[in-house]
Amino acid sequence: MTTPPSTRAPPNFLWGTATAGHQIEGSNVNSDFWLAENVKPTLFREPSGDACDSYNRFADDIALAARLGFNCHRFGIEWSRIEPEPGMISHAALDHYKRVLEECHRHGLAPMVTLSHWSVPRWFAARGGFEQSDSPEIFARFAETAVNHLGDGMAYATTFNEANIQRVLSLLFPNHVAVRRAASAMLAACAQASGSDTFSNVLFGEIDKIEPNMVKAHHLASAALKAGPGSFPIGVTISMQEIEGVGPGHQAAQVAADLYGPWLEAAKSADFVGVQTYTRIRVGADGPLPLPADAVKTDAGYEFRPEALEATIRYAIAMTGKPVIVTENGLATTDDPARISFIDEALAGVARCRADGLDVRGYVHWSLLDNFEWTSGYSQQFGLVAVDRTTFKRTAKPSAAYLGQRARANLL
Ligand code: FCB
Repeated sequence: MTTPPSTRAPPNFLWGTATAGHQIEGSNVNSDFWLAENVKPTLFREPSGDACDSYNRFADDIALAARLGFNCHRFGIEWSRIEPEPGMISHAALDHYKRVLEECHRHGLAPMVTLSHWSVPRWFAARGGFEQSDSPEIFARFAETAVNHLGDGMAYATTFNEANIQRVLSLLFPNHVAVRRAASAMLAACAQASGSDTFSNVLFGEIDKIEPNMVKAHHLASAALKAGPGSFPIGVTISMQEIEGVGPGHQAAQVAADLYGPWLEAAKSADFVGVQTYTRIRVGADGPLPLPADAVKTDAGYEFRPEALEATIRYAIAMTGKPVIVTENGLATTDDPARISFIDEALAGVARCRADGLDVRGYVHWSLLDNFEWTSGYSQQFGLVAVDRTTFKRTAKPSAAYLGQRARANLL
């Protein structure tokens, strides 16, 4: 059942699509992911290669998003392009991202910049990544470089994309332990290829070591952003799935605290929380429960659950008292009408939150394009727009027109 939209969002409500540098740009050769995709053994189904060639085609993508009706464009800048070797700054790469920002403004899209959407420079991973105690200062130095060149053009910024993702994946996918073992072999191959005895990546490194350093890096980078040119809200994005308690003695509160606690705490001093929601995790007295046999699944293997967004928005606001921007929400499917009903249901949840007076300031859908979905390669379609894998031709799906119309009408 779809709900007819009836709630008008406030005039400055953000409607947009989200992208990430490594997933769309192509040839991100100095990044940790590029190496991990190309060593043996690797966990990646296929390498990112040309991705969507958006490093070259960004102007077309931005024009398309504007034509569809959006007013916000979320994208990531690639640290490994800006600082390909420690301390070596590429002014050409900074100029590139300046042009991306300018193009957004020219088309009336508020640019929302992610400083690190999981990817880091290969050299940074090969010195231990965020497992190293000096990593926060190194990341903050990058934030300072970025803001000095790009701050004037930013409308919103976030430090990290979903730094808590490993914790969420370990609950969503019960084979995570086997994956971790395979990941160790891949990271060892990356270390060897780098002439190093270590290699740490946000998706596969040691999360208990990484997390506190990333929290500190977030705070230092936020301070660097605040001190630089421009004046724009700064947030942090969190992978937040609905956590539903089932039965007496369920552990939902504990599980939610483990998954989100440090980042919701960090968000208390940010300007907004970026909520990123895809599904639901059900938790009983002994912890997470398997999916019921009759659960409808998306192509990503987890449950089709658009209602999850309402729950995560409410939780994020209750825990932080901060405004929320939905910085990602979407699903992997080849069934585009299912994407439209997912969007409908998710927006109905946003409307209910707003009707209750909750401060939700935007809905940014994942994703503009069918793109490189990390270890799944090109096998999952999260995009509103299809991309031909050899000509890179973009073809908007009906869901793109649908969400664009909602954006234009400003109707939740
Ligand atoms: C999120 C990531 C994004 C994409 C979507 C499907 O967790 O932030 O890059 O992979 O999932």
